[in-house]
Amino acid sequence: MAFIALGVSGGIGAYKAVELTRLLQKRGHRVQVVMTRAARRFVGPLTFEAITREPVVTSQFAPGQNADIEHIALASSIDALVVAPATANIIGRFAAGLADDFLTSLYLATRAPVVLAPAMNTNMWTHPAVRANVGTLAGRGVRFVDPGDGYLACGWVGPGRLAEPELIADAVERLLAGEPQTLDGVRVLVTAGPTLEDIDAVRFIGNRSSGRMGFAVARQAAARGARVTVVAGPTAVAPPPGVDVVQVRSAREMHRVVLDRAGDADLIVMAAAVADYAPAAGAAAGKIEKGGPLSLVLERTPDILADLGRWRAGRARPVLVGFAAQAGDPREAARRKLADKQVDLIVANDVTAPGAGFDVDTNIVTFVAADDEESLPQLSKDDVARRLLDRVQRLLARTPASPAVP
Ligand code: CTP
Repeated sequence: MAFIALGVSGGIGAYKAVELTRLLQKRGHRVQVVMTRAARRFVGPLTFEAITREPVVTSQFAPGQNADIEHIALASSIDALVVAPATANIIGRFAAGLADDFLTSLYLATRAPVVLAPAMNTNMWTHPAVRANVGTLAGRGVRFVDPGDGYLACGWVGPGRLAEPELIADAVERLLAGEPQTLDGVRVLVTAGPTLEDIDAVRFIGNRSSGRMGFAVARQAAARGARVTVVAGPTAVAPPPGVDVVQVRSAREMHRVVLDRAGDADLIVMAAAVADYAPAAGAAAGKIEKGGPLSLVLERTPDILADLGRWRAGRARPVLVGFAAQAGDPREAARRKLADKQVDLIVANDVTAPGAGFDVDTNIVTFVAADDEESLPQLSKDDVARRLLDRVQRLLARTPASPAVP
């Protein structure tokens, strides 16, 4: 259990701080809410008090509160300071080191880790002044849970909406767990699960794949502070919390989503078992009546990884990682794929070996890179993901970062 100060500043997203308070408490933490003056115009302190059963700090100079002592006392007893929503104003005041109310004083006085979840209009979020302030705070070790894209209260559509409370709570959890944030801010795209190619309204062809390996990579990358998007085919296993999920069905759809987003990624891990063939005529409308033998003409689906390799040619990023599933020793095929698809690393596995493959929680893999090969023993898929990310981190360290995207 941790003691968390939750700062609420004055934005329309303040109502979501109520849900965040509840979530943090549900996860066993004690929450002390600190509201700015503007925040109180959006939500009443009573709402937070009813949930936390603690008085909410609303002013540095409330009667009975000794301003000097209160914020110092709180500053030294909290395990984390979270601000959600963090307005452009509060970000600016933190960056400038102002201490003109309780929350800004608390920020200066505490040595606990700080997480900010900004929320504001798109133009404000992308304004150079706000970018500079975010950069200053990030340089001081402040973590950000970036706003989501979507319809904003001001009527705009774009980035600026407060991240979902679940995502913020996950970020707090990671910070408290102390996992070294070795992929802090790195943008990771992971594909997971199978793709299904529809024959008609009820039938499809696809590959066996549970999604577990891709989800493990996503979970471990997020735990190291990466900003993770998972493009997932239909799976029975749920994707991990704390990552963006884009659901797709067919190889063609996955191809479109991945290629669309590739330019925003520092690392792409193609863990999905993409179907190699789909009905050439597309899905038949309705249900094909059964009769005698049925012939289907199949055509090759686009090879997403190979297209990524071609698209990236001549550049170092995004780092590209593929998987190779073979029946039998996978290393030779993996080496061929590494060259043919122009990628940095192939994770090869023999899907027929006990303890490897689809529906189990373990895997036995060999990493195949241009200059070396490393065979791992049977490990949990999460441990395989950790070892994979250790390797990728070394690759990322060797390749220049693309320009920062807000
Ligand atoms: N892949 C892809 N698009 C496809 C097929 C596969 O991006 N249409 C990716 C997979 O996600 C995986 C790698 O390519 O990362 C696997 O390569 P693939 O050539 O399909 O090999 P396997 O499926 O392992 O085996 P095979 O060569 O026998 O098909």
